[in-house]
Amino acid sequence: MTITIIGSGKVGASAALNCGLRELDDLLLLDIIHGLPQGEAMDINHQLSEIGLDCIARGSNNYEDMRDSKFIVLVAGVGRKPGMTRMDLLKTNAGIVKDIAPKIANYANNATLIVVTNPLDPMTYLALKKTGIKKNKVMGMGGMLDLSRFKSFIQEATQVSRHSIQALVISEHGENMLPLTRFASIGGIPLNEFVPKEKSTEIFEQTKKVAAEVIALKGATVYAPGNAVATMIESVVKNKRSVIPVSTLLEGEYGCDDVCIGVPAIVGTEGVKKIIELKLDSSEQEIFNKGVNSVKEGIKALQL
Ligand code: LAC
Repeated sequence: MTITIIGSGKVGASAALNCGLRELDDLLLLDIIHGLPQGEAMDINHQLSEIGLDCIARGSNNYEDMRDSKFIVLVAGVGRKPGMTRMDLLKTNAGIVKDIAPKIANYANNATLIVVTNPLDPMTYLALKKTGIKKNKVMGMGGMLDLSRFKSFIQEATQVSRHSIQALVISEHGENMLPLTRFASIGGIPLNEFVPKEKSTEIFEQTKKVAAEVIALKGATVYAPGNAVATMIESVVKNKRSVIPVSTLLEGEYGCDDVCIGVPAIVGTEGVKKIIELKLDSSEQEIFNKGVNSVKEGIKALQL
């Protein structure tokens, strides 16, 4: 079986490499740019060959080559420029997703679909609706990336091993993301035993804005998104049943309906096995509701 990555730019190539380094499955990089996916595949094969990992990467400009893929990673789309929000990309990237989705439906409608294209939550909803893939097999990669940053700032503040840090970010992968400082822990000990409230508030704010800082410095975020995609796919491939945040369709959970947004879920062979409903406090609920409203505004603008 194959993991097809649609969009062979920096994030797509990073996702492919991270899946290869975990030896999850053979890889197909797809792009409309002639030569790009082929060159990325060659470069990845050379690295995997030296290490002795047996995933084979291929590159193609032909969508038909994704036929019967086990996973589709949808990365295609334009990235933010400095000063832009992810939601600013809605109109442009919706056009790209609307163009690609029927091809996914035609060639790989049994695949598990991981959406990366921004604005993540509205694009996850759009891909779900336009591909017709079952809702539990359509997951947006947003919270996994946000928690990567959340963990990084917790480590900076506490100087403990990164291995000891557990952290969760839910809600919109955007301006209304919700790093859950109340739930974060180090070695099973709550974060608030290590840092005062004002520090956890600072970490909360840093997590929200750091992507824009990376983009301003190097033009795009690359390694952390690629790694986050691989973690999600690994949980499916190995039926790990990891508890991780994914953007998925809510149908009553968290009191919400007909919206895709980041929530904690058990992820295994069938994709989303179970959505975990947290008891949010009033301030958390307020941010989550803002995230839902923002995503619903984005979905409304899609005029589906
Ligand atoms: C980021 C982009 C992928 O947060 O949304 O880096």
